[in-house]
Amino acid sequence: MTEPVKVLTEFVHEDESWTIDRYLRAGGYEAARKACTEMQPEEIIDFVKRSGLRGRGGAGFPTGLKWSFVPKDTDRPKFLALNGDESEPGTFKDRLVMERWPHSIIEGALIACRAVGISTVYLYIRGEMPLGYRRLVGAVKEAYDRGFLGKNIFGIDGFDVDMTIHRGAGAYICGEETGMLSSIEGGRGYPKLKPPFPAVSGLFGMPTVVNNVVTIAYLPYIFGRGIEWWRSFGTEKSPGLMPYSVSGHVERRGVYELPLGVTLRELFELAGGWSRPMKAVIPGGSSSKVLRLPDAWDVPMTFEGPMEAGSMLGSAAVVFMDETVCMVDALYNLLRFYEHESCGQCTPCREGTGWSVKIVRRIAQGKGRPGDIETLLGIADQAIGKTICVFAEAFGWPIQSYVALFRDEFEAYIRKGAHVAHGAQPQAAAHAG
Ligand SMILES: Cc1cc2nc3c(=O)[nH]c(=O)nc-3n(C[C@H](O)[C@H](O)[C@H](O)COP(=O)(O)O)c2cc1C
Repeated sequence: MTEPVKVLTEFVHEDESWTIDRYLRAGGYEAARKACTEMQPEEIIDFVKRSGLRGRGGAGFPTGLKWSFVPKDTDRPKFLALNGDESEPGTFKDRLVMERWPHSIIEGALIACRAVGISTVYLYIRGEMPLGYRRLVGAVKEAYDRGFLGKNIFGIDGFDVDMTIHRGAGAYICGEETGMLSSIEGGRGYPKLKPPFPAVSGLFGMPTVVNNVVTIAYLPYIFGRGIEWWRSFGTEKSPGLMPYSVSGHVERRGVYELPLGVTLRELFELAGGWSRPMKAVIPGGSSSKVLRLPDAWDVPMTFEGPMEAGSMLGSAAVVFMDETVCMVDALYNLLRFYEHESCGQCTPCREGTGWSVKIVRRIAQGKGRPGDIETLLGIADQAIGKTICVFAEAFGWPIQSYVALFRDEFEAYIRKGAHVAHGAQPQAAAHAG
């Protein structure tokens, strides 16, 4: 059985874990001091590349490689934009770190700034996280007071870093990196076409590194404890640790910090298991394809594991579902979220989310028509890969996978015109229209 390895989560249960005094007692800011004073920027980037660190925000892009795309010989200002929007249903790892261990993010940001030559950091936090916002603002103030933000940090002449905490207004699309940048600029959170990528033209048209807050929070540990330590967890292609958000049908829902490569079964058991037989699992947040249980029990949670099983690691937000879950209803519930959150720029997404909700709702209400399943799959097909950002995939993949794996439930509804799954109470029936 893989054991939890508490790094970011070691002290989060303590009172005042978010204060700089607690962080300094745990050795805080020493790794950044060492990296910034003893290593050249290029060496820092190379170190991150060799560590194999990949983004914890969903796409798993190699962090050091991303930093290396930022132009070096430019006198234009560069920015670091930290993504704490965390609105994917099922995901709550970032919130824990922002609320209870925020200095790890500031310390990691210093390492990134030194490596890339950045002096302005924005941290974008989801609007519905007022506690995290207050804690981050407090942490930034403490860091300024102790000289970890501001001018000539660590006594390095000209190493100046300013940090601003920017609250979102509650939109999932503002977690998409270019949507987030638009929102920080003061515009609507509309994603932009890529290329150009933010590394070349990001915030205010300037070179910008976008990283998830947890990606950045791991940096002080990787620099403090070394590449060998980091690579002793996980696999060659997916090294290191991950705070998994575990929810749904398990006894103890919460954040479990473990090596990459832990299996879904191990996560389920660590979270106390469940009293009824299990039916399905979403491995990487609501936009990842659903997997069947027991088939998926031994899938290792690496960047490759869920992909080989037909899904993705995403934000490592694992949602377990027992046999009482009605999959038509589960899909309906998800699609209502995506309909609400589509930014509306692209027709296949704006219209597709709305129509798919209507169709799944009528199926769940016993009013489904022959051909509805094909129409639903057609909507997904016409959206995936045909929009500015991958929001279309985020609602299209659930449609495809729920129908592919649980088609019998959808068909039974349409055939019998009634709610059929294991006595589950349909939410959809409660919604008129
Ligand atoms: C619709 C959508 C929502 C997203 N939401 C988030 C989010 O809340 N937090 C996050 O870090 N990344 C989110 N991402 C991924 C970001 O676009 C980006 O890949 C990530 O912030 C990069 O950081 P990383 O390389 O450190 O993971 C989202 C992507 C999409 C398409």
